Order: sequence, then structure tokens, then C-alpha cells
Amino acid sequence: MILVIGATGTTGREVVRELVAARTPVRAFVRTAPKAEALRERGIEVAIGDLDQPETLTPALDGVDRLFLLTAADPKQVEQQGRAVEAAQRAGVRHIVKLSALGADADSSVSLARWHAQTEQQIEDSGVDYTHLRPHYFMQNTLGFAASIASEGRFYAPMRDGRISMVDCRDVGAVAARVLSETGHEGRIYEITGPEELSFHDVAAHIAASTGKSVTYVDVPPSEAEKAMVSSGMPDWLADALNGLFAIFAAGHASSTTSVVADVTGQPARSFAQFAREHADVFRHA
Ligand SMILES: NC(=O)c1ccc[n+]([C@@H]2O[C@H](COP(=O)([O-])OP(=O)(O)OC[C@H]3O[C@@H](n4cnc5c(N)ncnc54)[C@H](OP(=O)(O)O)[C@@H]3O)[C@@H](O)[C@H]2O)c1
Repeated sequence: MILVIGATGTTGREVVRELVAARTPVRAFVRTAPKAEALRERGIEVAIGDLDQPETLTPALDGVDRLFLLTAADPKQVEQQGRAVEAAQRAGVRHIVKLSALGADADSSVSLARWHAQTEQQIEDSGVDYTHLRPHYFMQNTLGFAASIASEGRFYAPMRDGRISMVDCRDVGAVAARVLSETGHEGRIYEITGPEELSFHDVAAHIAASTGKSVTYVDVPPSEAEKAMVSSGMPDWLADALNGLFAIFAAGHASSTTSVVADVTGQPARSFAQFAREHADVFRHA
């Protein structure tokens, strides 16, 4: 049995979908009764729990031999994920697949990258078999630009002309499902990217082609971007972390591609052109 923590989120729901499609026994760890009900209606086994209530992990892990571990980006994530790792170790889980991030590094200038590195280290120290999945920037993040693209045909970020090899979360979910279902991935760290390097000018061109709208990417100074993120309600720490990531991207340090999606799943990684076509209505009408 595989337990998926983070099963209701952008990536976790793809992991569950892939496992269900492959008829692999899966249990989703879910925080609320309505979300649990929605999954049960699809015939998916559910455990209701919360990483902030560690006692809920014990029944959820009953009979589980593999764990997919993902939580939201949060200053509490090291503590939350740490509780899951300890509970998994106690429950005799044999393999933990952690959703980390490209650039995870204990010495990174970006908080999120340091936090992921801390949890990766805790898992490695636990003695449980592990696979760390380090995906690049999700294509799904660009849906956050959809409102200004729909209303004014522009989107804003401090990316300059930096090129990144962003990845579709559906491909990350497909990699995770294979790693959770097969042997041979133990002790591996997979950097998961899309198939190509793209600047945000390229992203604008793909969205323009898919929507038939004029779309322009507007570069903004990091201080202005941070102010806009905070005034839209984003916590200061997250705006700071995202600006730190954009600085790395803008400097061209995150443009390499890997073949992990194709190697692990046997299918090519989705392109941004495909993503833009499939989400054209959102970019037109958000
Ligand atoms: N966005 C990117 O470009 C990117 C790139 C690389 C790596 N990452 C990493 O990906 C992760 C986020 O992935 P995502 O965007 O797919 O996640 P997401 O959509 O934010 O979903 C987070 C999931 O975690 C669950 N969760 C949150 N707090 C919990 C708790 N206390 N107990 C149990 N479950 C809890 C949420 O449940 P509810 O539905 O109840 O809220 C939800 O299922 C982060 O670690 C981030 O650093 C992101």
C-alpha cells in the first residue's frame, strides 16, 4: 500500500490519478471531510489526518510500505515533513519518495531550497530507502499570470531574459507514480525538467499562439515584484523566496534540461506549447 501525503494538491492529485490508473493500491492522506468524500466517490481509499496532528499519522500508515511525501511550501514544512518521516520509520515503511525542488541545498540563499535539503537529509539519515524528486518550476505556476493576461494581455515578473526548463506537474506525478511502484529508484535523486529552455518572452509567444491574443511579458525590478506579491496577500517570506528563485532564473542558472521524465515514464516530457494549448481558455477568460 502506498500513502500519498499532499494528495489534494497540484502535484499530489496527479500522483494519485496515475496510481489509480495503474491499479496500484493507494491511500490518500487528506485534511478535511469534504475532500475525503470527493476522493471516496472516485473509489479512492482515504485517511483523514493532518501533519500538525501527528497522532493521525499512525492509523494512516497502517499496512503502508511506500510513502509519497509532499506538503505546501510553508515555514513549518521541515517540522511537518519531519513528523511524517519519523512516523514512517516507526511504521516500518520501506521507501520514502520526497517531492523536493531543483536546487535543494543546505547552503542555498533561498529558504525553500534549504528546507527541502534539511528534509532530504533527515530521510537519508533515517535509514529508510529514499528517492528525492527535484522538479523545476511548474508550468502550472503560469496560470497565476492568467488574470492579467486575460484582462490586459501582459504579465509581469523579475525574470529578465532568463531561460528555464519548466516542467508540467502531470509529468512530475507520472515520474512519482513509477518510482513508487517499481524497484531500482532507491537512493536516487531525480532532477525533473521539461523538454526545453524557455524565456518568459517565449512563454508569452506560446500563450499568444494558443489564445489568439496579443500577450507580452513585462520585466519588472525585483523590489517592485516583491511589493506586488505582498500587496496581493502573499506572505513576506514567500515573496522573498520567489524573488530569490527568479534571481537565479534571471541569471541563467536553471536552464539545463534532463531526460528524467522520458527515462522513468517512457513518455516524452510535455512541452509548454502543449500546456498553453490545453489551458488556452484559462488564459483567455481568467
Ligand atoms: N511551484 C513550483 O514551481 C515548485 C517547483 C518545485 C518544487 N515545488 C515544491 O512543491 C511543493 C508544493 O507542491 P504543490 O504545488 O503540488 O502543492 P499544493 O498544491 O500547495 O498542495 C499542498 C498539499 O499539501 C497538503 N497539506 C498542506 N499542509 C498539510 C498538513 N498540515 N497536513 C497534511 N497535508 C497538508 C495540502 O492539503 P489541503 O488540500 O488540505 O490544503 C495539499 O494536498 C512544495 O514543497 C514546493 O516547494 C514547487
